[in-house]
Amino acid sequence: MQKELAHNDLAKYYDLLYSWKDYGKEARTIKQLIKKYKKSDGKDLLEVACGTGKHIQYFKNDFSVLATDGNKGMLDIARKNVRGVPFKQADMVHLRLGKTFDVVLCLFSSIGYVKTLPNLEKTIKNFARHLNVGGVVIIEPWFRKSVYEVGSPHMTTYEDKDTKIARLAISEARGNVSVFDMHYLVAERNKEVRHFVDRHELGMFEPNDMLAFMKKAGLEAHFLKNGLLKDRGLYIGVKKN
Ligand SMILES: C[S@@+](CC[C@H](N)C(=O)[O-])C[C@H]1O[C@@H](n2cnc3c(N)ncnc32)[C@H](O)[C@@H]1O
Repeated sequence: MQKELAHNDLAKYYDLLYSWKDYGKEARTIKQLIKKYKKSDGKDLLEVACGTGKHIQYFKNDFSVLATDGNKGMLDIARKNVRGVPFKQADMVHLRLGKTFDVVLCLFSSIGYVKTLPNLEKTIKNFARHLNVGGVVIIEPWFRKSVYEVGSPHMTTYEDKDTKIARLAISEARGNVSVFDMHYLVAERNKEVRHFVDRHELGMFEPNDMLAFMKKAGLEAHFLKNGLLKDRGLYIGVKKN
């Protein structure tokens, strides 16, 4: 099992810090893409790196879903957020579920956490292996190098009457890996203010490599420049016969 990538303890702040994100709108866009590209008849959907389950809640009524993530803390929250969906802890680099699906989703840059090109190749092969013929995989990538700005400061904040959070980082890079030391300052009612540092390292993968690995894995591969979030794009793969 690969090292846990967000500390279990920090998972409880994830939904607060990403409360700006419109998961419902993204799910509607993804459903349109599934309708356009999917050629298989079934409705089995796998989400890998599902985080706290914020996308899967919009799919559970239309599909038979399974959701996986590598981090136990995220899954504990996902199970509370979304009832009636099976969640399973699994590392996408070594994914072997013994079942195939009509849709595989890997969203919000999670693919970047595999970090290296050999891991990326393995992971894409795993996605293809878990698809039925005519099934579709949708991968929302992390930034590619040409649109990643080194040295810029980032801040995300959250507050309600019992909790205040500030998360700050400077975007850094080592070769093709972006590195963020996320500094959290957390103030919660009747506790001392706490400071955590959570390091995130994500591979910046180029469309050429992504598309080549997808084709090699037996997928008809597309890169859409305009995806769900600015500057990231979206990869779509359809499993060939
Ligand atoms: C930025 S979050 C995205 C979560 C969710 N998809 C969303 O849209 O909110 C990245 C997720 O990838 C998961 N992750 C990172 N590396 C992983 C791996 N090798 N296998 C499975 N999950 C992984 C993390 O635990 C985290 O939940």
